[in-house]
Amino acid sequence: MKPATVLCGIGAWLPPRVVTNEALSTYLDTSDEWIRTRTGIRERHIVDRGMSTGDLAVEAARRALKSAGGEAADLVILATSTPDHPCPATAPDVAHRLGLVDVPAWDLAAVCSGFLYGLSAAAGLIANGAAGRVLLIGADAFSTLLAPNDRNTRAVFGDGAGAVVLRAGDPDEPGALGPVSLGSDGSLRELITIPDGGSRHPAGADRYFTMQGKSVFRHAVERMTESASEVRRMAGWAPDEVDCFVAHQANQRILQAVSERLRIPADRCAIHLDRAGNTAAASIPLALADASASGQLQPGHRTLLAAFGGGATWGAATLVWPDVTPHFV
Ligand code: COA
Repeated sequence: MKPATVLCGIGAWLPPRVVTNEALSTYLDTSDEWIRTRTGIRERHIVDRGMSTGDLAVEAARRALKSAGGEAADLVILATSTPDHPCPATAPDVAHRLGLVDVPAWDLAAVCSGFLYGLSAAAGLIANGAAGRVLLIGADAFSTLLAPNDRNTRAVFGDGAGAVVLRAGDPDEPGALGPVSLGSDGSLRELITIPDGGSRHPAGADRYFTMQGKSVFRHAVERMTESASEVRRMAGWAPDEVDCFVAHQANQRILQAVSERLRIPADRCAIHLDRAGNTAAASIPLALADASASGQLQPGHRTLLAAFGGGATWGAATLVWPDVTPHFV
């Protein structure tokens, strides 16, 4: 029988600099009241100049490895859409800085769905024997790519990193990953984009991140609901058997709309965005670490994950929460 993928460690890290809604309102045409009521966000953490996604990833990964007992990983996947450089990938440097010698390491770009895409890739590699212990990191520093005066994106995004260690194990063990569902629709590529700087327009000047928020909102609700329902059914769980719903932390109103459609009560939804905003690929592992640290997420809990991001990409997965101690900030 092929081995199952089991989560055995989790860590997370937020850069120390906090930017509150009030602070944003001093230089953007926005207000604490608007941001709180339209998004649920109160503050976000932002990298200082010179701090990169790779730096965030190393901090979270160190904590995840410690949480997993300190044993080295034999493969590294870094889910990010804000790499340190367009080339090479950031993951090999992160592996090197962690002292992981000669291990395969690569970046995975699926924007806010990156962590779930990474879970699926790790599970496949573990199942076919190519890896025994995978370090999966979700890290992004979108603040470095936002236009200084864009209230639409500045209000929403924050920087951060979360990481998990996944090992080969048994499907009945706590921590075992259940069904995963992924999807994409490239016809929606312009909803979330950095228009220039890639190979299509290498010399173009439009290098800031743009987002058509209203449209993204609608597609996010639809796709997260569909894929989360699909994996919940595949896992054989009734809606009221989901103990904790940990979705990509983009907007509290999106979380509310999705959980209502899934018939999951509000008190079973993990909320971390109030303190970190939308941290893209980091948001699910950050929310998992936070929910586990606060006791909302308990060993044995049936946990449902879902995400939607640029591409468009989306995904969902189930997991029975293990008895792990999260290492968080
Ligand atoms: N502060 C104050 N006012 C703002 C504002 C801000 N930060 N951003 C927009 N507004 C204004 C708009 O100009 C508009 O004013 P108008 O009615 O006079 O034209 C009004 O608020 C409503 O704007 P709208 O864009 O319709 O707001 P919204 O309710 O859709 O909220 C987002 C905007 C970005 C918060 C919301 O669309 C969203 O969260 N979308 C999904 C984001 C997401 O999930 N992204 C990542 C996916 S991976």
